[in-house]
Amino acid sequence: MLEARGLTAGYDGVAILRDVNLSVGKGEIVGLLGANNAGKSTLINVFSGIVPAMAGQILLEGEDITHVSAPRRVEMGVVQVPEGRLVFPQMTVRENLLLGGFNATARPNRPRELDHVLSLFPRLGERLGQNAGTLSGGEQQMVAIGRGLMAGARVLMLDEPSLGLSPLFVQFIFEIIDKLHAAGMTILLVEQNLSLTLKHADRCYVLERGVVAVEGDAETVRNDPRTRAAYLGM
Ligand SMILES: Nc1ncnc2c1ncn2[C@@H]1O[C@H](COP(=O)(O)OP(=O)(O)OP(=O)(O)O)[C@@H](O)[C@H]1O
Ligand SMILES: [Mg+2]
Repeated sequence: MLEARGLTAGYDGVAILRDVNLSVGKGEIVGLLGANNAGKSTLINVFSGIVPAMAGQILLEGEDITHVSAPRRVEMGVVQVPEGRLVFPQMTVRENLLLGGFNATARPNRPRELDHVLSLFPRLGERLGQNAGTLSGGEQQMVAIGRGLMAGARVLMLDEPSLGLSPLFVQFIFEIIDKLHAAGMTILLVEQNLSLTLKHADRCYVLERGVVAVEGDAETVRNDPRTRAAYLGM
């Protein structure tokens, strides 16, 4: 469904990602693991069209979208839930969610999608009028995921959704990810939580300093010594 082929990308002419080949099949959960600075968020931002490719291609259902604009990619269903949530703090929960569904493709479906989001996150239903900046970290993550769903995601890219959350909330977020998966959503999950990601993802990639060091099913990735090395910098 979504693929990076021979992708090199970075900032100011300096490559961070080098010759990355990564694909996410329709309905799959693919985990993207790696230490700080490995280039995980950069890759998500290249998929989103925020960071341009220096070489290689981005494909959506086989179609080359390398030069398609970021807003258009959202309309096509390529949606990210950014690292650190980035909710709009001075806007209410309702406004944050509705804004997610502002693009031309998603807008007609907003009432139905809002119902769906509130059924996943009943807690947000009780807080629709509350400014998002006053929510707990876990609740803000719910808003961020809800906003991504409101955008009409067909591929949902989650950038460290469990970061900074208590174990109970982490558990809850992974349950939501499983629910979305069961409903057929295609998911690229960026995480540093190795064991939970290996447990929930169909396949994983480990990125080490901008290069794919390991890829395969959970078993393969868990047992590959390069997985540990990528984390411990050995
Ligand atoms: N806007 C930018 N301008 C210049 N360099 C950047 C920019 N964003 C990221 N980088 C650099 O790219 C490298 C990879 O960063 P990136 O955020 O992709 O890593 P990451 O794997 O997501 O790390 P983390 O787990 O800490 O979020 C880092 O060295 C970072 O300093
Ligand atoms: Mg990151």
